[in-house]
Amino acid sequence: FNVPVAKNEPVLSYAPGSPERAEVKKMIEELRSKEVELPMVIGGKEVYTDRKVRMFPPHEISHTLGYYNQGDASHVEMAIDAAIDARKEWAELPWQHRASIFLKAADLLAGPYRAKINAATMLGQSKNVFQAEIDAACELADFYRFGVKAMIDIYKMQPESAPGIWNYNEFRPLEGFVFALTPFNFTSIAGNLPVAPVMMGNVSVWKPSKTAVYSAGVIMEVLREAGLPDGVINLVFASGPVVANEVLTHPDFAGIHFTGSTGVFQGIWKTIGDNIFKYKTYPRIVGETGGKDFIFADNTVKAPELATAIVRGAFEYQGQKCSAASRVYVPKSIWAKLKQQLGDVLATVKMGPPEDFTNFVNAVIDETSFDKLKGFIDRAREDKDAEVIFGGKCDKSAGYFIEPTVILAKKPDYVTMQEELFGPVLTIYVYADEKMDETLDILDETSPYGLTGAVFSQNRYNIEKITKRLTNAAGNFYINDKPTGAVVGQQPFGGARGSGTNDKAGSVFNFLRWVSIRTIKETF
Ligand code: SER
Repeated sequence: FNVPVAKNEPVLSYAPGSPERAEVKKMIEELRSKEVELPMVIGGKEVYTDRKVRMFPPHEISHTLGYYNQGDASHVEMAIDAAIDARKEWAELPWQHRASIFLKAADLLAGPYRAKINAATMLGQSKNVFQAEIDAACELADFYRFGVKAMIDIYKMQPESAPGIWNYNEFRPLEGFVFALTPFNFTSIAGNLPVAPVMMGNVSVWKPSKTAVYSAGVIMEVLREAGLPDGVINLVFASGPVVANEVLTHPDFAGIHFTGSTGVFQGIWKTIGDNIFKYKTYPRIVGETGGKDFIFADNTVKAPELATAIVRGAFEYQGQKCSAASRVYVPKSIWAKLKQQLGDVLATVKMGPPEDFTNFVNAVIDETSFDKLKGFIDRAREDKDAEVIFGGKCDKSAGYFIEPTVILAKKPDYVTMQEELFGPVLTIYVYADEKMDETLDILDETSPYGLTGAVFSQNRYNIEKITKRLTNAAGNFYINDKPTGAVVGQQPFGGARGSGTNDKAGSVFNFLRWVSIRTIKETF
């Protein structure tokens, strides 16, 4: 069990004049200058179809990054067959060989592919260089390195033996294939979901979000270069319902590793229930879904720190992190000062394409998201229970740009205090200082989610009380810090309630879901 020690990949600064800045700029130029054609990868073969779908940066709709090859139900079937064909040999490969592929993939991401995975994420998903760096290069490398640590930690979990009796656990992969359905917002999550089950000896069928195919192509390139055998991960591009229908009705379906919307996950869960008699085994259902993440401040808080945390927590990557703060509760006694500080911080925030490194905010992912967010902003402008106090400009002429927007809600159950918007629109509710307890009850009861949350206070009794009162409101809870930016190996990530199965991505808790244990007793 002697493996390289897992350490977080250091985040580079991209300061003007730094070599990493020069490299990523060169890579952006290179990617922009040629249109790629991305095939599906099934059983190790590159598969092309006659349906080419255009890929473009969300911040520059007129520019073509390339095309991907859209498949249909027959390609999903091919992918399942290829996975099942590869299963036996992969499952029997000693774990050291599996581990070494992903340790190598991590080194490729941190080294020769760093500029490419970051540039692809910046262009394809409209992410600034710092957000791309912490996600695509560092977090994905961390997922692979800490994944290997989780493998070992699991293999070491052995029962007691007794005189004349030897007991041991065998950690077998699941009997079938695992389906990975991955989101657009983190390249690291897209690269982790198909891989975590595979590290434990499973095979997978991977369908990335249609708005993040560009970086998914680079992930697949890295995995293949690292030596991933054919058929172990099969990358298919087809519509969600087509893939889901093929996969979830297949007798060899053994599990799903999902990050996406609550509604889609609930639909999948129901389909699995409807097909339960078809499967050889009860499928593992692991999902991270929606959120309505919060920041709660008391009246002992320091306004400048809180203002910075709110702006970073709510607007980094345009609020499209599942962990992003989207509702904030502030006591009346500090509101005037905080409002001014928020205005000061927001005045320094620039919006535009990520190719200009001074832009903190880029475009939202697509037109559907743009229209939804604009709809809520327009509604708040007209509503008597709300007021748009910062931002609010929306412009989709060149790309899907929504200015960081702050809505002040006059009621704690105003619609944008409850519904997940997934964009740069934050709602603040100002509570009467003496009503802190009631406000905590409202916070806990007005949202169906439980992903992330933060308390800001300098009063230890309040910190303890609020932390205890909000026990089930967040799977990742932060004291005096923004609720985003969980680091693999440090803050295992995930939440319960409507936010998912809380299987803590990148940790041993998650990896345990991808094995079926055989316990063997031998007597002498
Ligand atoms: N892990 C990310 C964060 O904590 C969300 O997926 O921000």
